[in-house]
Amino acid sequence: MDGEPVRFFVCKYARRYFEGVCPEDLLNLLRDTRPRSIGRMETGMLLGTQSVNSRNHLEIGGCDVVDLAAEFGTPLYVIDEQFVRERCRQYNAAFKEHYGNAAAAYAAKAFIVAAMCRLVAEEGMWLDVASAGELHTASIGGFPMERVLLHGNFKTAEELEMAVDLRVRYIVADSFLELEVLAAIAQDAGKTAQVVLRCNPGVDPHTHHLIRTGQEDSKFGFNIKDGSAMRAVRKVIEEDGLELHGLHCHVGSQIFDMSPYVEAAPVMLEFIKRILDETGVAVSLLDMGGGLGVRYLEEHNPPSVDEFARTVSDAVKSAAAAAGVEPPMLMVEPGRSIVGEAGTTLYTVGPVKQVSISEDPGRRTYVSVDGGLSDNPRPALYDAVYSAMIANRADDGPDGKYTVAGRHCETDILLRDVKLAAPKTGDLLAVQTTGAYNHAMASNYNRFTRPAVVFVHDGKARLACRRETLEDVVRCDVLE
Ligand code: LLP
Repeated sequence: MDGEPVRFFVCKYARRYFEGVCPEDLLNLLRDTRPRSIGRMETGMLLGTQSVNSRNHLEIGGCDVVDLAAEFGTPLYVIDEQFVRERCRQYNAAFKEHYGNAAAAYAAKAFIVAAMCRLVAEEGMWLDVASAGELHTASIGGFPMERVLLHGNFKTAEELEMAVDLRVRYIVADSFLELEVLAAIAQDAGKTAQVVLRCNPGVDPHTHHLIRTGQEDSKFGFNIKDGSAMRAVRKVIEEDGLELHGLHCHVGSQIFDMSPYVEAAPVMLEFIKRILDETGVAVSLLDMGGGLGVRYLEEHNPPSVDEFARTVSDAVKSAAAAAGVEPPMLMVEPGRSIVGEAGTTLYTVGPVKQVSISEDPGRRTYVSVDGGLSDNPRPALYDAVYSAMIANRADDGPDGKYTVAGRHCETDILLRDVKLAAPKTGDLLAVQTTGAYNHAMASNYNRFTRPAVVFVHDGKARLACRRETLEDVVRCDVLE
């Protein structure tokens, strides 16, 4: 806990502290992504540009979240733009340093609106999209198609047609059926589709069973061991309209232990060598997917982007040397680690109810908030855990444990036994690390309207996605 009081001081008096600090020092401070403790050091953390201001309110990107809630309403997704930009820069710089011929594609599935596409394009990222909807958003956001990859284990013919029409750079093919359909579409259009083959390296990432993908028993990819991947390679080479450019694997998500990447690299490079030996084709691109984990709780300690880049780069370089092939261009596809910690969801506290229970301590306090399952299905799906604070009293120490529930007709528990500072009706609850797979997985369950998204930076907030209205809720209904 050494050093914590200083951190606390720095956070609470951030503005005063920063006066007279040179911009480079300030940037270094922002780059320091270790969580800063708050709340009398008992609980809570500050991520990215988060700080506690002199009104004892949480501030993100220089914006007081109480003001954001008043202006945009709640629930509200707040995205720390500086954090996202810094993460993109870290990815690009780290892979340049540790590998050289490399690129990072932002995995749009984690969070995508047109403004996000524009932002990551400005940072020089590539983009991984997984549906026509994501591709359309990228197109609306002006994302350069020569830096886009299209994923999916079952892309429809319409999606493939759209990708060929828009001249998406790479199609990451996942089945023999897809290769047939894509070849026909490309031939009809008089074009050549650049194919990356999704392979299954047979590696278990030891993460939540619903977000594992690289193990043998998976719907994704062509199996290398059983020969399907080599048959797919031959098909791409033989088919008019298709050109083999690369191989892809993605082992899973929210990964803290880097060993699955170290295990997957030799499998992929030995396969590249076999392809060269058996067909004469030199695979020029290897995409190792995404997966780097993020901090949901203060005690979570994911590897840094630099550690991830160094581990993956070293693994690929040494596997290439061992296989005796030229190191291919290396690509990675981070989603969660770009935007997860950049996102905070603001809720208004409604009823606070104490119930008697038979287990210790004999009672539980339910704090209901004005969102829930529809804006964050992750606790229900993956037993996901989060950190939270009462944002209008951000530095108050916790007085006990609370269970935060949503307002759906479900047992939609957002946070179980979380330490909070005596939540009261009308308080503002900030749930952290909700940037990835929250807005993206939001629904209209119970016909809730999906919350707005604001990007905050330098004391300014801009709307990136407006709140849905009741009109939006019924816009597709047909009454004959
Ligand atoms: N590339 C591919 C092919 C993927 O399938 C994924 C994630 C990524 C990249 C990005 O992985 P990331 O860097 O974000 O870990 N809904 C779940 C996560 C599902 C991940 C799906 N694929 C959740 O909320 O935890």
